[in-house]
Amino acid sequence: MPIHWNPNLSVGNDRIDNDHRHLIELINLAERALEAKNINKLSNQLAQLDHYADIHFKSEERIARAVHFPHSERMHQSHSDLTRVLQTCKHKVDNTAWSDDMAHEVLTLLRTWLIDHVIKEDLQMKPYLMKYAPSLSL
Ligand SMILES: [Fe+2]
Repeated sequence: MPIHWNPNLSVGNDRIDNDHRHLIELINLAERALEAKNINKLSNQLAQLDHYADIHFKSEERIARAVHFPHSERMHQSHSDLTRVLQTCKHKVDNTAWSDDMAHEVLTLLRTWLIDHVIKEDLQMKPYLMKYAPSLSL
């Protein structure tokens, strides 16, 4: 079942919200490839997700520092961990024969990745971002 962005996920910054919408879209596409058991497409979607997450994390860290988010150092560490998780996931997809267990593991990992990033971590920035215009972009 695809995930849908909703206003409860808004961190109060347009750039970050738009990035999160796009990350959700990429995860939905990866899940669609997973359901279709299309391993090449899944690998391709994970590469795109990794690429876009990297762009997003850098931009988000610049914005976090600009709004004086006090945990921006911890955020940077967490982004490195999330990047490693994605890369491990892609490595597994590229080097493991298809199985329902593998598919389940990848699906769980992608959902957890998204929830940890957007809901558990980025929403903590909201009170700081709300002091600035939603259009703040760096
Ligand atoms: Fe984010």
